Amino acid sequence: MADRLLSGKHILLGVTGGIAAYKAADLCSKLTQAGAQVDVIMTEAATRFVGSLTFSALSGRSVRVDMWTEPGGQPIPHVQMAAAADLVIVAPLSANTLAKLAVGLADNLLTATLLATAAPWVVAPAMESHMWSNPATQAHAATLRGRGVVQVGPGVGRLASGAQGVGRMAEPVEILAAARQRLAQQGPLANHRVLVTAGGTQEPLDPVRFITNASSGKMGVALAEAARDLGAVAMLVHAPLAIALPFGVEHAAVRTALEMRDAVLTRLPATDILIAAAAVADFRPAAAAGQKIKKTPGHEELVLRLVRTPDILVDVAAQRAGSGWPKVVIGFAAETENLLANAAAKLAAKQLDMIVANDVTEPGSGFGADDNRVTLLYRDGRQEALPLLPKEEVAWRILNAARELI
Ligand code: PMT
Repeated sequence: MADRLLSGKHILLGVTGGIAAYKAADLCSKLTQAGAQVDVIMTEAATRFVGSLTFSALSGRSVRVDMWTEPGGQPIPHVQMAAAADLVIVAPLSANTLAKLAVGLADNLLTATLLATAAPWVVAPAMESHMWSNPATQAHAATLRGRGVVQVGPGVGRLASGAQGVGRMAEPVEILAAARQRLAQQGPLANHRVLVTAGGTQEPLDPVRFITNASSGKMGVALAEAARDLGAVAMLVHAPLAIALPFGVEHAAVRTALEMRDAVLTRLPATDILIAAAAVADFRPAAAAGQKIKKTPGHEELVLRLVRTPDILVDVAAQRAGSGWPKVVIGFAAETENLLANAAAKLAAKQLDMIVANDVTEPGSGFGADDNRVTLLYRDGRQEALPLLPKEEVAWRILNAARELI
């Protein structure tokens, strides 16, 4: 499925001299696979680490190094490349090129092109610790950040010298996420805050056991990523997840339904859109045992007393009635029977603007799956049944519905 944000975008990828240039090849591959047109400019030093053929094979486009001897006979390609770019990424960014960019030198094709472009920049510095911590380098980095350049990393880890320290280039997935976030900044949900809940809450029985459900958090994470890609400030309040947290999304980890309620309610005044995809326990053990529950001889039965948890969305509705925030509230309904009738009842009871109904008995859909088949039910009675789709696409449709509602 085409990547909605990156597909068709012109990305100018600058690669400078450093061992991390090999990781830039992975970044180039990821951008190209997402449907971006990647124009790579390497400095001469970068070609000492990775051949230009690697990048031309991965991007499917010619790679440029020299300002004056270009294939195709175009003498000054920097003007045209600078104009075409939607976004510039420089990864790795060496101390030398960082200094040149800070003072505005244009002594090679990369620096000349960057000086000529109006596109936003994302840079991923990579160098030895002492070079990074040198006051000159720090001042140059601060200059770029002051001009609105997004800096990713550097991180701490093993460096080219074999030493451990700060200076390691950020991972390609992190650079990609920063690039997405920068591209999305003018998106339709810019200046909006979207709060998403995800995962299955855990209700402890004793220090080592708990009651939970099969939610992986995939649906909620996809929603937070879609919100981020539409330009929103995305916030994820999540119970334990079976997948990695998304980049570029603020997050707060909780465990129980009570903790999730508190985390959601305290954030409501700053939330424009709330999407509740978490599978929240409706009941919890009345009291969690202080020590591990033992099986003793003659102890053949264990009766658990469960009590209701608060309904978070009902509490949200009460708070919203007084404050008007969030502007849009969307819930989910996980049903095993009477899908639409049960979902419509929850839409009304929880005073939602929309509910996303999923039949969690359908194979390949719902809990833990990569795909979901949902029906969107609106407060005004409209219904939209979607086919089985990847959760990323379902998330995109839900966020676009939220945009219309807001
Ligand atoms: O996480 P995945 O593996 O990707 O799976 C996705 C999913 C199946 C969990 C997701 O698509 C989904 O259906 N989420 C809602 C699960 C659920 O708890 O549904 P419900 O019908 O029990 O609850 C209705 C709504 O009330 C939900 O928005 C829920 O977050 C909310 N709720 C429920 C209980 C409670 N105490 N407080 C609540 O706010």
